[in-house]
Amino acid sequence: MKKAKNLIIVIFGASGDLTHRKLMPAIFSLRTQKLMPEKYAILGIGRTKISAEGFRIKMSESIRVYSEEKISDQTLVETFTQDIYYHSMDNTSENGYSELKTLLQELDAKYGVGGNYIFYMATPPSMYEIIAVNLAKAGLSNQESGFRRVIIEKPFGYDLQSGRKLNRTLHEIISEEQIFRIDHYLGKETVQNLLVTRFANGMFEPLWNRNYIHRIEITSAENIGVEQRGGYYDSAGALRDMVQNHLLQMVGLTAMEPPSSLDADAIRNEILKVFQSLQPIKEEDVADQVIRGQYTGSLIRGECVTGYRYEKGVAVDSRTETYVAIKFFINNWRWGGVPFYIRTGKRLPTKVTEIVIHFKQTPHHLFLRESGILSSNQLIIRIQPDEGMLLKFDMKEPGAGFNVKNVNMDFHYKDLANIRVPSAYERLLHDVMVGDSTLFSRDDEVETAWKFLEPIQQAWANNPSIKVFGYPAGTWGPEHANDLIEGDGLTWRYPCKNLADDELYCEL
Ligand code: BG6
Repeated sequence: MKKAKNLIIVIFGASGDLTHRKLMPAIFSLRTQKLMPEKYAILGIGRTKISAEGFRIKMSESIRVYSEEKISDQTLVETFTQDIYYHSMDNTSENGYSELKTLLQELDAKYGVGGNYIFYMATPPSMYEIIAVNLAKAGLSNQESGFRRVIIEKPFGYDLQSGRKLNRTLHEIISEEQIFRIDHYLGKETVQNLLVTRFANGMFEPLWNRNYIHRIEITSAENIGVEQRGGYYDSAGALRDMVQNHLLQMVGLTAMEPPSSLDADAIRNEILKVFQSLQPIKEEDVADQVIRGQYTGSLIRGECVTGYRYEKGVAVDSRTETYVAIKFFINNWRWGGVPFYIRTGKRLPTKVTEIVIHFKQTPHHLFLRESGILSSNQLIIRIQPDEGMLLKFDMKEPGAGFNVKNVNMDFHYKDLANIRVPSAYERLLHDVMVGDSTLFSRDDEVETAWKFLEPIQQAWANNPSIKVFGYPAGTWGPEHANDLIEGDGLTWRYPCKNLADDELYCEL
């Protein structure tokens, strides 16, 4: 494993949720695992006027609440916070950046980091361009001494045009190699394990194509609603929030060709080729290939759950989708004719992200079941929770005759070893520190993903007759999503029943 050089991590938006819940706990974990450089400092930047000591106290609290580490010795947290600093400034004021530069020079000398700075923009996206321009004006983005890396969080624009504009502005100031676009799904162990499953095992890859695979389904379901993020979410919706990034990246890793090496660009080139091969959905086909929905109020286990339009920050006549399901094809040699179905939504019955590979049935059916329903093999790659893999196949039931039963072969990551699965942010922050951009979205991937979604965004904007279906909170989304999957007896896979049915069982 590469060792990171001494550095300073500057976090813009240090008083925000991301810093509290994810970034500080992740850096703390990296330090616990001895993955931080020998010398480093963390500099939080925020508007809130608070002393460095006050900020340290807040950060120790965040670590106590959100860290996944078992903290047996509280002094470890106290020691950790000694290298945290805070600077209050307005991100839009040019003067602030010269003060920031002076402060960085002082810390640089104190910690001996040789000009290596990482700038993490944990701010609303509208600030990215402003901060980048100001960093450049203050001479903080050039790499004459040490490296300068910039981390940005999604959304990378709101559509193709704004996505391109953001890339253009950033490229005027910094090179693509300096930009790390975080898609935290790529930091998940199980998402990375897709590469290993596919390319380290001889048995899967020969079957991984249109000859043996009937369809592929990717679900990313959440049981929570929009929580405190109604304002952001109402202007984004599930397509921008989840599909443009997380779901399409999972499609990319599932469908890509084997890369020639593990080099960042070798992998990202293959993902890009998948995005370039996505069959464009024509505007006139959007109503048939894309189903959008919005959760309505419901009673789950005797508790009232608020409908989306009544959430804080959401317009009462909002048409923003909290659920989206899409059917599409990938036009290439490997996948020609194989339908891909992806869906994501809030207030579904459970939290689960999984990729389901449905294999074709045998060409001749020797063992007809009494029910007459034929099953087919499924490989289920469970991204979260209970990370693992499940293979479903038919076995003979013991006894007379040939009664066939579908059984599970199940692997759970937690059985592998007594090792905590590291959080996505730990992995990704470490990768930025060592300069490995494999798990970060490249400019061309982002733009190609937007290009695929453009006709959907346009059809929704231009054609008010395309419905936003309501679905009761706690159910699996609009029933119309079932119509996407054609064929006798075929449906989405339902890992759990509807919660609104007041019954929960998980098969996994
Ligand atoms: C974020 C979205 O990117 O991913 C959120 O903005 C969503 O709306 C979250 O809740 C889901 O991430 P995870 O890791 O909990 O599946």
